[in-house]
Amino acid sequence: IQTFVQPYVVPEGSDELNENLQAMATSFAVTDDKIREIIKGLHKSMKTGLDRDDPNALPMIPTYVSGRPTGKETGTFLALDLGGTNLRVCQVTLKGDTTYSLVQQKFTITQEAKEVRLWDFIAECVGVFLEEHDLHPAPGKRTIPCGYTFSFPIYQTGIASGNLSMWNKSFTVPNSVGRDVVNLTQSAFQRHHVAVEVVAVLNDTVGTLMTSGYSHPDTQMGIIFGTGTNAAYWERLENIGKWTGSDRKGEMVVNLEWGAFDNATEVLPYTAHDNKLNRKSSNHGLQVFEKMISGLFLGEVARNAILSLVDQRLIFGGRSSEILNKSYTFDTAYMSEIVADASPDLEGVRVVLEGTLDIPPTSLVDRKVVQHVCNMIGTRGVRLSAAAMSAVLLARPELLTSSVSVGIDGSMYQFYPGFEANLYAVSRVFLGADFVDNRLKLHLAKDGSGVGAAIVAMTVDRDRQR
Ligand code: GLC
Repeated sequence: IQTFVQPYVVPEGSDELNENLQAMATSFAVTDDKIREIIKGLHKSMKTGLDRDDPNALPMIPTYVSGRPTGKETGTFLALDLGGTNLRVCQVTLKGDTTYSLVQQKFTITQEAKEVRLWDFIAECVGVFLEEHDLHPAPGKRTIPCGYTFSFPIYQTGIASGNLSMWNKSFTVPNSVGRDVVNLTQSAFQRHHVAVEVVAVLNDTVGTLMTSGYSHPDTQMGIIFGTGTNAAYWERLENIGKWTGSDRKGEMVVNLEWGAFDNATEVLPYTAHDNKLNRKSSNHGLQVFEKMISGLFLGEVARNAILSLVDQRLIFGGRSSEILNKSYTFDTAYMSEIVADASPDLEGVRVVLEGTLDIPPTSLVDRKVVQHVCNMIGTRGVRLSAAAMSAVLLARPELLTSSVSVGIDGSMYQFYPGFEANLYAVSRVFLGADFVDNRLKLHLAKDGSGVGAAIVAMTVDRDRQR
């Protein structure tokens, strides 16, 4: 298990430098007590959100997904997965023996698509996929049924309909908020003569939950730690006060939209660097929890923190670079490289700073400082991630007596050094060593959102044919 690197001191550095570093470390620290407070806050916000739609609480969106996968599902389905960075079009084959295979094509979502013509972009990509894989509707059918993973908050009005509540992850496509995203996509399919019908729409966390459940029946939660962060879990219908459907028995997947936590309260330990990012972001004041955890933002928090040290002339001889001066140029992937560098001269850190970011020749002290700063921010991210996961599991304490699987996907979970080990280590404190060591299993649900979309599409298709 990778332990947190502490204390954050650079023995060769000046007192002034080390004092500043210590102050920064304190501002980025999240103590166990703070985590307990956050868990309490999450519980309160979850409960209110389950009872009613309240802008100050978590959205807690009922997803209309109410049947657990069995692992025996079979068939080939089309799945669309709109993430924050890529659009994946997949053909998923569920083999009925808890395994699956998939053929997929990944399209990087262009800036233009994020800001202007998303729906046409999606239709074009699906068109390309159908053509390249020579896919056509089944004999006697006019369209190919498709599961659609949509990684933004939508208030679902049915299994295949939902209104966009807001954009995040720097998407700003106009005329979309408040409208049904399935309709918007389906109209684009028509404009582009794409013979596909969306039969189910789901959040990426729901897809991850279903995919993990297909292989591990004891899955209770699906989480994304990626460009954004969020989770979905199984909740009893009787606990979902705002559910107005006739069904009151059984369970349903609830999409928490936990990235929105603390939008209205002030539990989280914001630093000046977080506030700066928040103020300049396209969704100012929203998704504040996500901005402390997820891949899109951590690098930017680090950039702000590093620049504050440059401005005090404590590193890089007081000089920055044109690249580093621009927002979002310090990719979270660089943080991963930086914290992973265990070489004595921190050569890997040098390559990122001097090679990629064009910073004038750095000293070893500079590089150590940057590594410490990245570690502080990454560590805070993983501790907050563990807090959120623990809060959801603690909300259903009856689960903690048996084995629990959690399906997880996303770039932070996959690539940030030590992320998983530290998730286990931190949750141990709040969920108990016995449960975490003996009964909790975190699984990478790779491509979970695509596979999950196929699983849900399959159940819808099956029910239709009954
Ligand atoms: C953002 C979206 C949410 C999604 C998450 C992970 O938080 O609001 O719907 O699940 O990112 O992609």
